[in-house]
Formats: sequence, structure tokens, C-alpha cells
Amino acid sequence: MLVIFVPQVFGYAIAVVATAVLQSHKRFAAGAVAPLISSLVVVATYLLFAAEAPEAEERHARERPDDGDRKREFRPCNIDIARQKINDTGFLDVDIDVSVDLFREIEKLKKEKNAVVLAHYYQEPDIQDVADFIGDSLGLAQKAAETDADIIVFAGVHFMAETAKILNPGKKVLLPDLKAGCSLSDSAPPELFKLFKEKHPDHLVITYINCSAGMKALSDIICTSSNAQRIVESLPKEQPIIFAPDRNLGAYINKQSGRNMLLWNGACMVHEIFSLEKITKLKIRHPNAKVIAHPECEAPVLAVADYIGSTTGLLKYAQSNAAQEFIVVTETGILHQMQKSSPGKTFIPAPPNNSCACNDCPHMKLNTLEKLYLCMEYELPEITMDEALRIAAKRPIDKMLELSANFGL
Ligand code: 13P
Ligand code: SF4
Repeated sequence: MLVIFVPQVFGYAIAVVATAVLQSHKRFAAGAVAPLISSLVVVATYLLFAAEAPEAEERHARERPDDGDRKREFRPCNIDIARQKINDTGFLDVDIDVSVDLFREIEKLKKEKNAVVLAHYYQEPDIQDVADFIGDSLGLAQKAAETDADIIVFAGVHFMAETAKILNPGKKVLLPDLKAGCSLSDSAPPELFKLFKEKHPDHLVITYINCSAGMKALSDIICTSSNAQRIVESLPKEQPIIFAPDRNLGAYINKQSGRNMLLWNGACMVHEIFSLEKITKLKIRHPNAKVIAHPECEAPVLAVADYIGSTTGLLKYAQSNAAQEFIVVTETGILHQMQKSSPGKTFIPAPPNNSCACNDCPHMKLNTLEKLYLCMEYELPEITMDEALRIAAKRPIDKMLELSANFGL
């Protein structure tokens, strides 16, 4: 196409210029000579391009995928630049052809690479639909501990993928967006916590799994919202305990167990902004609805809840309870599984204390199906960590897994 079009345009342009020049000099009959010049230029340019064509075609073929597979249709320079920039961007910033069937490609990559996709309930619905396992933090840690896949693709936030890596040093652990952090985890910097801990040497440290590896390494037992109460109650009553980093979960466990654990002052940016006033109004409008809340919520919100539990706990309650309406006081991602498993029931997301109607976690929602696909295709970004830190952080996680198994969780 290029070989025919370019000489023609070029030839006619030369002809127009030549005609104008010859007419201005009035030395030849321009009308007769111009077409002749035009034809000569067309033929000459064609020969020049035809000689270039095979080489250009060959070069193009080298750059193009030879299997015609759509998924590889990225401009080669794009992926190289994306790799170089990954520490700034947090993910592979590459455009994907919109016609690529990402669901099909992700399934193919799982098989090709013996990869498993683990997703938290707060992930976007498309990611949940493509996951091999969806769960709460305990379920995900348990799955990560037992998988025989070579690659664990963690559709969740950084501390979750890091926990999977701590449990699986020999496996590749991928996170679609490295910047998917957690405000609760960020509220407990290990250096500050270490100083706090040193002031209370007789205390045992129970730490919520929503924390960094550095915090885990300073802990005696890790817990999640589904086993925290059981773990605390399994310890002698006289044992002094520091609970970190979530003050709301800690306060809730203190109330349930009658303990007086020392609480670190951290909170989740999603769960601490639910509006008690708006929830109360929703309850008046839906008198038969059950209020179900995550224990990361503040005490006044938990006080109006009919059921309090981890994401898996909330999902099971919504499935098994006879009520037809539920006001759901946690991140909205969970509604996807609630609606899928109980299609006839109504799930109303509880509104936060701002102008939004529902409450999304900005960290969880950094992951997208596109980023998930790209991280599987190019095996980046990958979670890596210092081996001494990994070993220190593993001990309290192992303790949690052992206790949970004893409790039948
Ligand atoms: P669970 O899914 O373990 O209840 O945790 C909720 C949460 O906030 C995770 O970030
Ligand atoms: Fe962290 Fe809260 Fe987001 Fe969970 S919902 S990842 S605790 S910020």
C-alpha cells in the first residue's frame, strides 16, 4: 500500500511544481512536458520504494508477534519503558488493546504458568469473578500457606501479598499494583511501635494482620477479624496484652472478652468514617433490615449492629439469615458476593460521613483487571523481602495458623 501510494503522491507533487516553473519561463510547452516528468518521477520513486520494501517488511515482522496472538500486541518500546518506571508507577503502565478478552487470557496464563489468583472480597467484581479463591484475611493466608502453585497472584493489598511471600519464600508472589497499601497498616510504623513495646516489656503483642512485615516481626501472635477474639480468650486472663494497630477492633475485643488490652491508636480510613446518623435513618426506612458490620468500625456504629464479623462472617450471616434486607457496614466490594449468593435479597451499602453514597477502599480499588492481566503476563510487580525479616515475621503468623487450626477455623 505504502509502496504504491507514496510514489504517486510524490510524483504528482513534482509534476505540479515542474509545470509552474516551466510555465513561468515560457521556454517549453508546459502542458506536454509536465505529465512526462510526472510519470518519470513516479516510476523512479516506485523502484526506490520497491527495493526498500522487503527489508522494511522483514523489520516490521521482527517487531510483530509471529503467532498473531492479540495479547502480545503491545508496542515493544512501551513494555520496556513500563518496566523501567515500575518503581514510580507501582504497576506496568501499558495500554492493552480493548478487544482483548482479559478473562480468557487470564485463564490461559493461570494454566501456562501454574499460577493461582487469590482475591479479597473488596476487589472489583471482575477480579473476584476471575479469582480461584476469594476470602477474608484468614482464609487468604490459609490458602497462601497450602497452595502448590508456582506463582501466587494476590489481588488484594500489599500486606496480604507480603504475608503470602512470608509463607512462601520459594514462590513468586505478584501484586497487580505495588501501591495498593492500607491506611491501618500505615498507622503503625515499626520504629515507633518498637519504642512503645519497650515501655511495656511484660506485655504479649497481638497484632492484626493488617500491618507490615516489620510490625509482624515485633509481634508474638498475628490475628485477623475472624480469630482475634478466640486468640485473646485463649490466653490467661492475667496476661497483659498490647493489641495493635486497630483501636476499634481492639476495643471491640476488650468489650467482648472483658480484657483490658493496651491499644495502639490506629484505624482503617474506610471503616472509621461510616455515618451513624445515616445508618440510623436507613434503619428507620428499612425496619426489617439487619445491620451487619465489620469490627474495624467505631464503637457507636457497632452498637447498632445486629451482627459483627469478618468479611467471610458477614457473607455467611447474610446467606443464612432469614431477613431479606441488610444494611452492610463495610467496604462495598463484599456486596458482589452477597448478591451472587443470595440473588433474592437486598443489600444496602451503609453511607460514609461525606457526600458519597457508598464507601470504597482506595487502596483495594487500585487493582484492576488490566493490571492483574499485565502482572501475570510479565510477572511484575513482584513482592521481594529481606530473608532475616521474613523469618522473624513468619513466627507469629505460624502461631496464628496453628491456633486457628486448633479452633477449627
Ligand atoms: P477481613 O476480610 O479479614 O475481615 O478484613 C477486612 C479488611 O479490612 C481487609 O483489609
Ligand atoms: Fe486497609 Fe481499611 Fe482498605 Fe482494609 S479497607 S485495606 S483495613 S484501608
